[in-house]
Amino acid sequence: MSKFYITTPLYYINSTPHIGHSYTNIAADTLARFHRQWGEDVYFLTGTDEHGQKIAKAAAQANLKEKDFADKMVSVFVELWKSLDISYDDFIRTTEERHTAVVKNILNILHKKGDLYLDEYVGWYCTPCETFWVDSQIEEKTCPDCKRQIEKIQEKNFFLKLSKYQGWLIEHIKAHPDFIKPVSRYNEVLSFLENNTLTDLCVSRPRARLSWGIEIPFSPDHVTYVWFDALINYISAIGFGYDEAKFKKYWPADLHLIGKDILRQHAVIWPIILKALGLEMPRMIFAHGWWMVGEDKMSKSRGNVVSPLAMVEKYGIDTYRYFLLRDVPFGLDGSFSDAAIIKRKNSDLANDLGNLIHRTATMVEKYFSASLPETGEIGHFPLKAECDKLENELRQAIGNIDFSSCLDKIWLVVNQANKFIEDTKPWNLLKEGKKQELDSFILLLVYVIRRVSKILSPFMPQSAKMIQEQFASSQITKGVPLFPRIENAG
Ligand code: MSP
Repeated sequence: MSKFYITTPLYYINSTPHIGHSYTNIAADTLARFHRQWGEDVYFLTGTDEHGQKIAKAAAQANLKEKDFADKMVSVFVELWKSLDISYDDFIRTTEERHTAVVKNILNILHKKGDLYLDEYVGWYCTPCETFWVDSQIEEKTCPDCKRQIEKIQEKNFFLKLSKYQGWLIEHIKAHPDFIKPVSRYNEVLSFLENNTLTDLCVSRPRARLSWGIEIPFSPDHVTYVWFDALINYISAIGFGYDEAKFKKYWPADLHLIGKDILRQHAVIWPIILKALGLEMPRMIFAHGWWMVGEDKMSKSRGNVVSPLAMVEKYGIDTYRYFLLRDVPFGLDGSFSDAAIIKRKNSDLANDLGNLIHRTATMVEKYFSASLPETGEIGHFPLKAECDKLENELRQAIGNIDFSSCLDKIWLVVNQANKFIEDTKPWNLLKEGKKQELDSFILLLVYVIRRVSKILSPFMPQSAKMIQEQFASSQITKGVPLFPRIENAG
């Protein structure tokens, strides 16, 4: 049985999750469900990133101890994933013993190997991004990424030899065109590596400045830099150093799904840590785009966040999931608005899919007294052939992490089915007493709906289940419309 190990970033818990966070998890969930449908042994990992200055500050503001604050915030994430039907297999918190022990173990290994060394650090630090900058990278004492104020620091710290592995990394990327996706991100990382010399990564913080972190085992006055700590989750969760069998079974990861904001950490720092440990590289790192509000990235610091729960309450889980994965090709940025969701719901879900289901069930009731005919020939219809092709086409699109084209293909079939109803004019068949044709007609529609609902279920698990229940047996009744139109669409 082949395995599929998929990960999401670990989310910072300093504030509540927004649409951007839910996007990565919904995408990962959809992929995990497809791979399960294909009979693979799926391990879907998500979790929370709980150390570092940002969290320490948020805890202080909330007047709580860091761990108490983390416990409280983690439950918000867990609840959200439940509400969004996220079928993860494991949830890792960086404060768990199974994780902190592995981080310490790895620090020891790299220290012994000579890949970690002590040095004086002088430079700039951006707390919100938890990132170091050197003089040449900054202007006006602001962070090149988020444009907020940065602080000057000077201290003794441990460094990871990134520069030692730069040549190797360039070669690895060149030899593995699927290592970083989409291709725009591949080019971005490669050109960064070819045009800059990597500065070694500072992987510790003096305890005097920040105590909320994993202690460096060979230097108790230091704690581990939060990014070094967090990246290791991808192997600590599956048993590195303590559960060899599990680790062997799942590593290397088949897919690290991330947002483009954290590409460099995943495509430069993480591979180098793995290489230094002598481990295999992940098969693919896919960086998706950002959800924007107007011209700005949606983020807490910009004060423009939309709550995923509010969206679910307004539109339903599956409409929300569908919208995120359909509206924007995965990898590009998207513009978030209520108007855009309403448009998708009314046209694709209410009009196209909802109508197909409702009309078909209504016709089974009206022309067949709610009971499907037992036999009928459907093999010759082009619509059947189109529908049968879907599964293979989707395998390919899902392999390329291309959700929107996947959904486009499904909708082509849905719309062909709607057109088939209009072209066939079943009411005339009935009038003309063409019983056999009418039987085939309805059996084909039911066949298409059953197939489509199976294929759709990774995207829209609840709706697909309802459709499957409605069409499971030969007794089919109308029921309530699955996707009612939103009338005051403004
Ligand atoms: N804790 C780090 C990740 C460590 S992984 C070992 C982190 N956390 S985060 O909470 O700030 O963001 C995590 C992820 O949320 C981003 O990579 C991205 O996947 C997602 N998004 C956050 N804002 C986003 C948008 N506005 N749009 C789309 N996704 C975004 O970084």
